[in-house]
Amino acid sequence: MRILFLGDIVGPPGVALVRKALPDVVTREKIDIVIANAENGSNGTGLNPNTYKKLRQSGIDLVTMGDHVYKKQEIIPLMKEDERICRPANFPAEAPGREYVLTAAADGTMVAAFSVLGRTFMRSVDCPFHAVDRVLAELEGKAKCILVDVHAEATADKYLLAHHLKGRVSAVLGTHTHVPTADEQIFPGGTAFISDVGMCGPYDSILGRRVDRVLYTTVTFVPSAFDVAEGDARLAGAIVDVDAATGQAQAIRRFMLRETEL
Ligand SMILES: [Fe+2]
Ligand SMILES: [Fe+2]
Repeated sequence: MRILFLGDIVGPPGVALVRKALPDVVTREKIDIVIANAENGSNGTGLNPNTYKKLRQSGIDLVTMGDHVYKKQEIIPLMKEDERICRPANFPAEAPGREYVLTAAADGTMVAAFSVLGRTFMRSVDCPFHAVDRVLAELEGKAKCILVDVHAEATADKYLLAHHLKGRVSAVLGTHTHVPTADEQIFPGGTAFISDVGMCGPYDSILGRRVDRVLYTTVTFVPSAFDVAEGDARLAGAIVDVDAATGQAQAIRRFMLRETEL
């Protein structure tokens, strides 16, 4: 069973490239299920219902979110009802939305996904280690193929969580920094890991935003609108092969597709 996981989808360039390229990628790579973090889908911050529907129609089966989850508040009613999108699992219990998502992949395997936020250089959230333990207890008997999106700044946080989860989930894949890393590996017990899969969006940018605006504000301290950039759109993620019977990962490879290759 083959999972494609896409990192933070950023703004119109990211959404447009997903819509343009994903159906062919799914066919060519023989993907059974597509999971994506879409926290930056609408103008770089948050996700509105219209963009969510476009992403789902383009072939994304399950959607995780990060720290920007509620920036477009019109997503909140959808998050309460829709079964294919979840908020970070270590948010307060009162936070709207579900803690995990679950569906059958193309080959019939039940696959679950959820995200947790790290706590280094991020807003205070509940303990991600306790949160993953709680969600895994809820998933007992529901799915063996489980993908955890660790949405965090610090690589150490991501490695620690992977060691906490090794042998218990199929994959621990990093998001949030928008910069892909080259440390993909399989931990003992069959848990695929990478610190960050990178973003789906404009790479001629500062993490998806216009270079001139971010540079101006950083140098002068004068605020400016950090609009989403436009150039060099790419899809970035990871492809994980999982033994459907055991949920153990067999292989992980980085995925990157440039718009110019199409
Ligand atoms: Fe992001
Ligand atoms: Fe984030």
